[in-house]
Order: sequence, then C-alpha cells, then structure tokens
Amino acid sequence: MSAHWKPFGYFAPRKIMTLEQEISKRRTFGIISHPDAGKTTLTEKLLLFGGAIQVAGAVKSNKITKTATSDFMEIEKQRGISVATSVMAFDYKNHIVNILDTPGHKDFAEDTFRTLTAVDSVILVIDCVKGVEEQTRRLMEVCRMRNTPVIIFVNKLDRDGKDPFDLLDELEEELKISVRPLSWPINMGRHFKGVYLLHDKSLNLFEVNKTRKSDTVTSIENIDDPRLDEMVGEKDAAKLREDVELIEGVYEPFDEQMYREGLLAPVFFGSAVNNFGIRELLDTFVEIAPEPVPRFTDKREVFPNEKKFSGFVFKIHANLDPKHRDRIAFLRVCSGTFERNKFYHQVRLDKDLKFSNPYNFLAQSKEVVEEAFPGDVIGLYDTGNFKIGDTLTEGEEMRYKGIPSFSPEIFKEVINLDPMKSKQLEKGIEQLTDEGVAQLFRQEPGNRKFIGVVGELQFEVIQYRLEHEYSAKARFEAVSFHKACWMTGDPDAIRSFCQYRPKEIVKDKDQNLVYLASSPFVLQMARQNNPDITFHETSEFKE
Ligand code: G4P
Repeated sequence: MSAHWKPFGYFAPRKIMTLEQEISKRRTFGIISHPDAGKTTLTEKLLLFGGAIQVAGAVKSNKITKTATSDFMEIEKQRGISVATSVMAFDYKNHIVNILDTPGHKDFAEDTFRTLTAVDSVILVIDCVKGVEEQTRRLMEVCRMRNTPVIIFVNKLDRDGKDPFDLLDELEEELKISVRPLSWPINMGRHFKGVYLLHDKSLNLFEVNKTRKSDTVTSIENIDDPRLDEMVGEKDAAKLREDVELIEGVYEPFDEQMYREGLLAPVFFGSAVNNFGIRELLDTFVEIAPEPVPRFTDKREVFPNEKKFSGFVFKIHANLDPKHRDRIAFLRVCSGTFERNKFYHQVRLDKDLKFSNPYNFLAQSKEVVEEAFPGDVIGLYDTGNFKIGDTLTEGEEMRYKGIPSFSPEIFKEVINLDPMKSKQLEKGIEQLTDEGVAQLFRQEPGNRKFIGVVGELQFEVIQYRLEHEYSAKARFEAVSFHKACWMTGDPDAIRSFCQYRPKEIVKDKDQNLVYLASSPFVLQMARQNNPDITFHETSEFKE
C-alpha cells in the first residue's frame, strides 16, 4: 500500500488534547455593568483584540433602549440581536475565551442573574464618572452569593471622573469586596496621559484611537526613572509617584488566591471606546481567571475533569419566527466531553435525548460542534424538553444547583380574555415561564395564576408573545404583593402559617410553597411573629 494512501473520509488528525488540557485552556466569564457604563463597547474591544472580529462596530448593542417601552417589534428585534451575541468564543494566547453576554436592562435582570450561574468569573465595568450604580450593586450581590471572582475595569478615563482613590473606597464600601489596583491612571479627562502598570512597572500612554488593536507599552526602569517626567510631564510624574507610594502603602500586594475566592478584586483603569487598557486587562484575565471550576449538584460536587459528561441549561431562547416553535437551550458543559449524536439523560424528565445539531457560538456565527468541553456553552435545538435549570448527564441522577429564582418585584394576576383559548393560554404561560421570561405562581384552590417579573417591560413581551405565538389573549391585573418568599423551617409552623393566610400562599413551578407578602412591614411582622420559619427572597438558599 502506498505510504500516501489515505482511507476514504480521512481528515488530517486534529491535535488531540487530553480533557485536562482542554479544560485548562478555557476561561468562561461574563461582563456585567450598570447600563451605559460600557459593557457592549468593552465586549467588542475584547473581540477585536482576540481577533474574533476585524472592525469595530461589528457587535451591536443588545441593550433594550430606554425609550422602547411599547414598541413590541423593537423588543423582538433586540431580543434577536441578543440571541446572536449571547455567547462569544475566541482564541487568545492559547486560551479559549467564552464571553457570556448579559442583558444590561434592569427589566431583564433575572436573565443576567441566571447567566451568572454559568460563568466561572466576571469582569465588572464601572463608569469613572458615575461610580457604583444601582445595577452594579445588585449584580455584585449575585456574584458574592456564589463567590464569583471579579475583575473590575474602571472605564471612560477620557472623561473627568471621580478621584481614583475615592472610587476605590466607593468600590470597597458599596460592593463589599476588597480591591487592589493593578494599573493606575495618570490624570483624567482631557489631560488623561495613560496608565502606569503597577505589576510590571511600565507605562501605557494614551492616545485617542478607536481602531487600533494593540497598545504601545513603554518599559521604564521603575517609578523614579527620569524618562517618566519626559513622557508625562513633571507635574503628572510627581503626582504618579506620590499615588504609587500611597497605593503600595495602603493596599496589600495582589493575592491571586483571594481573587479566586471572590474576596479581592483587581482593578484596571482604561477607556474602552479608545481601545485603551484592554490589552493588560485581557492578558491578566487569561492569566489569573479560573479555568472551569467544580460545581455542586443536589447529590455531590462534580469536577470538570470527570470522564462522564454533565451540564445544565441556564437560558432558553424562543425562535423568533412564530411559525417554528422550536427553541434554543443554552447548556453549560460542566464535566467530561459532550458528543454530538450521543444519548444523554434529561434528569428531570427521566428521558434520554440525543442532539444531532448542537452548535457553538463563535462571534457572529454558529457552527455545529462534534464535541464540547467543560466551560463551553452549546446551543441545543429544543422542542419543549427543557426548562431552565435542567441537568443532562450520562445517566447519573443528580441536578445542578445554583439556578435560583429571585423574588420578583412586580406581581400581576393573569386574566384570560378569550375563554375559547384557555388551553393555549395555559400552554403559553407554562412555556414562557419555563424559558424564564417571568415566574409563575399558582394559587389553589381557584387556580389563580400570578406572574412575577422584575420589570414592566416583561409584561409587554409576554402579552405580545402570547398573542403572536399562542393565539391567546390575556390581560394582567395589578395585585399588591411586595415580595415572594420561599419558606423553610418547622413544618408545623409553616403549615399553620399557610392555613391562616390562604390568599397569600401560592406554589412556584417546582411546587414549593411561597408566601407573597403585601408590604415590607407585613413581611417584617411575619418574620417577627414566626421565629420558627425562615423567609428567603431567593428560591435557593444556604441553610
Ligand atoms: P452598555 O453596554 O454598558 O450599556 O454601554 P455601551 O458600551 O453601549 O456604552 C455606553 C456609551 O458609553 C456609548 O455611547 C459608548 O460609546 C460610550 N463609551 C464606552 N466606553 C467609553 C469610553 O471609554 N469613553 C467615553 N467617553 N465613552 C465611552 P453612546 O453615545 O450611548 O453610544 P455611541 O453612539 O457612542 O455608540
């Protein structure tokens, strides 16, 4: 046989890597911020640096514009954009970086919280003019719940912002996390000269440039190098020396272990729109951010390097074309190797499923994948088999934890407007709430249905989708509930508590008892008068 003979269907062998090698290459993270701080811009610049896109402007903002409160098509269009850019993977310095996008709009905060369960770390973007804002606080609470490691990027240094030391204090105080600057700005706004990189004692000098792909970093001997005065001017050089002395005196050296435990956040300063400060952020990120971490199921802790595949669904997206009812389930691979066309066990349904067209997400495109590894997110076509939080395994009966429902902020009762279409309405409400668009609470007897959401915008989305996808008509009537509380504690105490207030007791989709408190005062009284019951504002809690 000729040495050049190749069997039919021969492909050049791909470099085979062990599962451990695949895992150690991956960095799966989310970028979070209060709207307008620069999350979209930073995402785009990271993709640009990673070579995943060639020109700036290729990633469309997925934010629901502030004015779009009643323009349904606009919401749909924007939902469409957000599915296209939900996960973006690119190679950088021998790493596979998976960015999981999170909606910035506060009405979709629940979606963001859930996505955060599928990441191993986050980059938090702060606007240097505004500092810590409302959404920043809430997002950090979720990170703290899960001890997610956080890197902070202080953005918009080309504007006159808050004093950087004040900002660091604000970050520590408001976000309840220790911080450690790794770069330091030289002036700000119109006089912004660049940043000093505290680690490798080099200078990254600023120039307004929206398209360049790399920074020019100038090495200097140390902070006393006279070239510093030449480059940034004597006054700014003197101020920088003073600042650096203060930093080294006040802040402990950066401790990677503390970062990994979610206790310490390294801070970088830059200007995303000017591509400035991105390189050091990305370089540090791939170096220190954790590779896929072990995750907990209801039975045991699962390690990424276990041979057998397992993963969970953290997001479901409906097809935008109402003629096709299929949906896309986003699955995070947690252990082993996922393979195309292999049967996997859907634990909740006790059913084996196989996927012939799983795909991965490369920036701007989708590609069918043969296999996927821990840290990867794959899209699975779904005809109704999945709910958010579902676990897939190779047969083991275990369910991933960590997809909590958070108490909604607004509650409304669903009123059917077309009795002939009750079934459609029931199905529509079930499926939309499976997707996580909103939470459904049922009251028995009477089968009253309450929908809980984070923001009004979701009611519009639900109403529109019920009509267009399920031909059902419903109206939402305001009810005055303030918080949903899941209860644990003495079963007898819970039973008698529920007996006395049937109108405020409902069940969530997993049949858990939930107390709908009508005001902060009422909730406080319930807590005071029922010391044997703990009222939780999320569906999953540390006992
Ligand atoms: P978001 O996803 O967090 O909501 O924020 P996004 O990136 O869309 O940025 C919000 C606004 O802030 C955008 O301006 C963006 O250009 C601007 N921006 C981002 N980074 C910087 C920066 O480093 N410096 C300054 N000065 N501005 C920055 P916009 O006017 O809302 O939109 P556009 O017309 O510029 O796209």
